[in-house]
Amino acid sequence: MQEKQIRFILNKAEAERTVPVHWTLGRLLRDELGLTGTKEACGEGECGSCTVIVDGRNVNSCLMMAVDADGCEITTIEGLEQNGELHPLQQAFIEHGAIQCGFCTPGMILSAKVLLDGTPRPTRPQIREALSGNLCRCTGYDKIFDAIESVAAGEYGRENG
Ligand code: FES
Ligand code: FES
Repeated sequence: MQEKQIRFILNKAEAERTVPVHWTLGRLLRDELGLTGTKEACGEGECGSCTVIVDGRNVNSCLMMAVDADGCEITTIEGLEQNGELHPLQQAFIEHGAIQCGFCTPGMILSAKVLLDGTPRPTRPQIREALSGNLCRCTGYDKIFDAIESVAAGEYGRENG
């Protein structure tokens, strides 16, 4: 089995692993690193449940090869909480009832974070567009969009990073 050593920043900490070249990033995160907040459903880039942030962009970790993460900065849902405090988006999702089964939630929140990092005051159509790659089978989306809008409006204070 062909393997390659890679180095990357994961949730603000340096990491290094030797990974089989056929592994996806999602497999590395979940099976090797135990970061099971990253969900995998379709495995083919359709649902967005496996979304993580790589170098500031939201990517489907089921489609990205782990070896391509060499030199990258990766953020998973586990990396948003800081010093025991939930990220404003996490808090807003809870308080707006934007979570039901929760399977889509990590990917939704990470896509929302990428949006707000680049567009702090998005319109509802911009929110809808930014999350168009993240599917939810439980909610009607409105509560998810409401939660994101409330963070953009500053209702949950400043982002903690
Ligand atoms: S599991 Fe990756 S997009 Fe569906
Ligand atoms: S809350 Fe269940 S899939 Fe979105």
